[in-house]
Amino acid sequence: MSTYTEDQRKVTTHRLVEMKARGEKIAMLTAYDYSMARLIDEAGMDVILVGDSASNVMAGNITTLPITLDQMIYHAKSVIKGVKRALVVVDMPFGSYQGNSKEALASAIRIMKESHAEAVKMEGGSEIRESIERILSAGIPVMGHLGLTPQSINKFGTYSVRAREEAEAAKLIEDARMLEEIGCFAVVLEKIPADLARKVSEQLTIPVIGIGAGGGTDGQVLVMHDMLGINKGFSPRFLRRYADLATVINDAVAHYIDDVKTRDFPNEKEQY
Ligand code: KIV
Repeated sequence: MSTYTEDQRKVTTHRLVEMKARGEKIAMLTAYDYSMARLIDEAGMDVILVGDSASNVMAGNITTLPITLDQMIYHAKSVIKGVKRALVVVDMPFGSYQGNSKEALASAIRIMKESHAEAVKMEGGSEIRESIERILSAGIPVMGHLGLTPQSINKFGTYSVRAREEAEAAKLIEDARMLEEIGCFAVVLEKIPADLARKVSEQLTIPVIGIGAGGGTDGQVLVMHDMLGINKGFSPRFLRRYADLATVINDAVAHYIDDVKTRDFPNEKEQY
């Protein structure tokens, strides 16, 4: 158990705002299934994100675009069953909220009703303001997501650092302020210059969670498969690997194959 989790109370959106106010950093990580969510929660994670990165790391797609609302709900339901303390946030998948605000609300309601998650995350700023407002007005907490927004990869054309130019940085600041003003409880900033992320974090009272956005944000988020070294093909500068599970799993599986082939497994004690 982490040394930072003496406080066993359930994490809520309000508690995250309090953590920011007292300068306590927020730890967030993705999960997509029951068993991993249980381990991550037991370790003391503050926020578990059922990310649409499930499209990449669970389904093997190149982008996050193909994952459906039904598939996100399936992952979210599994995660929720393994979590006691962390706040569980679910990504609204591409195509479930961009069309119009009524459709967006219907998608968010399905996520909340069917998975029992506690909040949703949505990519974008002023373009999706109406959808965010409608979802908020139904009492559903929303986490914003600005900077590199992978659902728009076909518009950007690359996964490189966003908001290096003044105009894009100014729009990002404006969007972040707007998200706070309309009632989002937090915002993710992905792959933007550290100075810009620090500036936004200082200007907002809601928590800013960074990924590839430097150390000046109120918290950090990583994709579980990347930080555990399951997915070794992805090595951006911002990623710190905390384990090499690909090697651990490969070695264990190779050992098992060997034991089966050499008739070492099962032995007499491993049978009835
Ligand atoms: O889907 C995801 O995993 C995310 C994080 C990268 C923030 O949105």
